[in-house]
Amino acid sequence: MAEPLEIVTAIDAALSDGPLKGKRIVVTSGPTHEPIDPVRYIANRSSGAQGTAIARALATLGAEVIFVTGPADVPPPERVTVVKVETAQQMLEAVQGALPADAAVFAAAVADWRVASASNSKIKKTKGGLPVLEFAENPDILATVSQMEQGRPGLVVGFAAETDDVVENATAKRARKGCDWIVANDVSHETGIMGGAENDITLISDAGAEDWPRMSKSDVATRLAERITQALA
Ligand code: CTP
Repeated sequence: MAEPLEIVTAIDAALSDGPLKGKRIVVTSGPTHEPIDPVRYIANRSSGAQGTAIARALATLGAEVIFVTGPADVPPPERVTVVKVETAQQMLEAVQGALPADAAVFAAAVADWRVASASNSKIKKTKGGLPVLEFAENPDILATVSQMEQGRPGLVVGFAAETDDVVENATAKRARKGCDWIVANDVSHETGIMGGAENDITLISDAGAEDWPRMSKSDVATRLAERITQALA
């Protein structure tokens, strides 16, 4: 049986009257944590604010939102089904379990690498020696879903966190991963975007690159949710 909260969320979405009523949308958000040993992990600076705002905006417009989130700083929104994960591998499995969907938005800052063999016991200091970590590549969730031959969501939206040549890199990323839109942003430290309250994005689609003015993450979310509504109409 589905979790009671999931049932309530589905009923809530079904009874909602917004323009996304009847649409099921998967949103990934937050960082992932990749364990080194039981007490240590590798992470990144994502707060989960942008993904959370997008999930909230989509739910407000009446969508049934499955919100797959890594360990974020901000609490998940109301009126969505929350699936909490830690690692990239778990995030992939949760996303695959949430499909089929009409659209999917991949706002999570997924760790590209995990420690190849995380230790089951705490790594201790040894005299004169330093631990050497070997890495393995994580699955690319956005690319996996974008390239599904059957059951691909009708609209797949990725993000591109870049520090250099933002539009050029994001355009190449869109082609490489096979998603429909890329929301590109400059996450250089001086922009204050990663972990901050504002975002400055370029929306890249078949129609080209569209610069949005700098605005709050919540306004970016509202505007993106409106565009998704138009695309799914
Ligand atoms: N992404 C994903 N799974 C991964 C890595 C990234 O689903 N293992 C998704 C992110 O959620 C985002 C998009 O891919 O929507 C781009 O993420 P980004 O970190 O900008 O790019 P990378 O794929 O990590 O490429 P690079 O590090 O070379 O910039």
